[in-house]
Amino acid sequence: MSLDVLLGLQWGDEGKGKIVDVLTPDYDVIARFQGGPNAGHTLEFNGQKHILHLIPSGIFHPDTLNIIGNGVVLDPIIFKKEVLNLLSNGVDVKSKLVISRKTHLILPTHCALDAAQESSKGSSKIGSTLKGIGPAYTDKIARQGIRVGDIHSSDFQERYDRLKGIHEDLLAWSGQETEISAREKEWFEAIDFLKTFKLVDCEYLVDQILAEERTFLAEGAQGSLLDVDFGSYPFVTSSNTVCAGACTGLGVAPSRINKVYGIFKAYCTRVGSGPFPTELEDHTGEQLRKQGHEFGSTTGRPRRCGWLDLVALKYTVMLNGVTELIMTKADVFTDIDTIKIATSYIINGKKSKHFPFDPVQEITPVYTELPGWKVDISSIRTIGDMPPELSSYISYIEKELGVPIRWVSVGPDREAIIKIPSLAHQPK
Ligand code: GDP
Ligand code: IMO
Ligand code: MG
Repeated sequence: MSLDVLLGLQWGDEGKGKIVDVLTPDYDVIARFQGGPNAGHTLEFNGQKHILHLIPSGIFHPDTLNIIGNGVVLDPIIFKKEVLNLLSNGVDVKSKLVISRKTHLILPTHCALDAAQESSKGSSKIGSTLKGIGPAYTDKIARQGIRVGDIHSSDFQERYDRLKGIHEDLLAWSGQETEISAREKEWFEAIDFLKTFKLVDCEYLVDQILAEERTFLAEGAQGSLLDVDFGSYPFVTSSNTVCAGACTGLGVAPSRINKVYGIFKAYCTRVGSGPFPTELEDHTGEQLRKQGHEFGSTTGRPRRCGWLDLVALKYTVMLNGVTELIMTKADVFTDIDTIKIATSYIINGKKSKHFPFDPVQEITPVYTELPGWKVDISSIRTIGDMPPELSSYISYIEKELGVPIRWVSVGPDREAIIKIPSLAHQPK
C-alpha cells in the first residue's frame, strides 16, 4: 500500500487546510511532516472557521488518525492552546492524535533568537512568523536540539538548561536582552500537558499503517517556493516543503508515494519579504487582497497579491512530481475583466522559462491574457455549470503544466468545491 502527499505549489496559504478537510473522508490517516506553528491552515464548515497551526487537518473527522511527524518542530505552548481550543469545540484530540518521539521542540529562547535574528537583518529581514522555526531547525541540524521523546527522560531539565544557556550566550552576543521567565513557566506547564499524549516511533507506525492497507495522506505546510533548498533563498522557511520532505519527515521510502496533489491559488500571494515576479502593487492587487481576504492566518499580516506565475508553477510541479492539481480561490476573480498569466520571464534582456537561481534580480514577466468570467461562481458545484471562461482558464493551465486539474475550489467552505471527473479535462 502507498501514501499520497498534498502540498502547496506557491508561497504557502494555497488552501491546504480546506482541501485536506475535503479529502479526509477518503483517508484513514492524515500526517504533518514538516514546518511547525508558522503554518496556519483554515477549515470552514457548519458556518464555523477553524485555524490549525500544528495539528493535522484531519482532526475534525471522527475516525481519522492524525500524526505529527518527526520533521515537524513543535512549540508546546501553541500545541496546548490549540488542543484546548479544539476540546472546547467538542473535538476529542487525544484519542485521534499521536506525535513522533523524534519531533523537535521549540523552546522560548528559539522564539527570542528568531526575533533577534530578524531585527539584526534590518531591511533585508525574511519576514519570519517569529515562531522560532529557523532557530529550532538550526539546533536540529547542529545536533543539539531537544526532541519530544526527551520529555520523559530524567535529565530533561538539564538538557533544557544547557540549550537555553547556548541561546542566552547568542542573545547576549547579539545585544538583544530578552526576558523569557513568564513564557518559560508556561512552557514547562505545556510540557506536562504534552506528556499526556501518545508518543510513537512514526517510521514504524507508518510502515504498519501501510502494511494494513489503510489509506494515508501526508499534509504539507508552507509551499514549494518557500522550500529551504529550492525556494526563493534566502527568503524561505527552514524545512523541505517539497514532496521529498514527506519521506524524511515521516520516515517513509520514496517508492511508497503514490499520488501527489499540488495545490495552487488561481492567482499568487506571498506573506513576508522576498521576490515575487508577478506582484501587483496597484488597484488590481488591492482588489484581489480584498476579495480573497488575503490576510495571514498565523500573523494577520496583509498578503502580497499578484497574477498566476506559470514559470514558478511549472518548476514546483516538476520538483514534486505532481500527479493531480487542485486550484483554489477561483471565485475571487469575479470582478476581473481580463486575467493575466505569466508564461515566461525576461531576465537581463533574455527570455527564460526557468525559475532563476537568484529571483531577487530584476525579472519582467511575459503575460498571456485570458477573459475573466465576471459572474459569481461561489455556488457552482458541477463542471457543467462552470462559465466557459473558467473552463478555458483551467484548460490553458492544464495544457501548460501537463497535469490535470481535478478539483476547483470556489469558496472557503468545505462544500464550495467542484470535482472534475478524470476524463473531463485531460490536458492535450
Ligand atoms: P493554507 O495555509 O494553505 O491552509 O491556507 P490558509 O488557510 O492560510 O489560507 C487560505 C484562505 O483562503 C483561508 O482563509 C481559507 O478559508 C480561504 N479559502 C480556501 N479556499 C478558498 C476558495 O476557494 N475561495 C475563497 N474565497 N477562499 C478560500
Ligand atoms: P502555511 O502552511 C505562508 C513565510 C513567512 C516568511 C518565511 C519564513 O499556512 O501555508 P518562518 O516563520 O518559517 O521562519 O518564515 O516563510 N511562511 C509562510 N507563508 N504560509 C505559511 O504556512 C508560512 N510559513 C512561513 O511569512 O516569509
Ligand atoms: Mg496558511
